[in-house]
Amino acid sequence: MTDARDALIAAARDAASRAYAPYSGYHVGAALLLDNGDVVTGANVENASYGLTLCAETAAIAKIANEGWIDRLAEVAIVGGRPDGDALIGSEPVHPCGRCRQILNEAAERSRADIWVHCASGDGTSIATYRLSELLPAAFGPKDLGLITD
Ligand code: THU
Repeated sequence: MTDARDALIAAARDAASRAYAPYSGYHVGAALLLDNGDVVTGANVENASYGLTLCAETAAIAKIANEGWIDRLAEVAIVGGRPDGDALIGSEPVHPCGRCRQILNEAAERSRADIWVHCASGDGTSIATYRLSELLPAAFGPKDLGLITD
């Protein structure tokens, strides 16, 4: 755990307010801390063809990859819940889906970091923190294809 946790969760919560989730009504925000202190966020983007939905973590990772920063990831926070006015409700922390764990792993391996992942509930009462390696043990990643050499 680091000093960045609470600010990162706040950034993820703010990002969740920009979710496009008219089908599930479940808003997720993700905040990525980079190695220079910058924070990049994303929120879920749903689609009428449900299976095409983009998760918040995936949207955020796409942003850093497109900026050339996929090897600069240091830490992640995600917040999920149902909107109630300007707030989010729900007391259970949101955990990254399987696909997002794999997508986070790509950036984490390229960043040579077993990143912290903070998972927060919508109402802010519950936070669970993990190393990515706990959420995705024995991961297959860039190291298996020779991209990480040391
Ligand atoms: N969702 C995320 O954004 N991230 C996850 O890790 C889990 C699920 C979104 C996808 C969908 O828009 C909504 O939550 C309900 O599944």
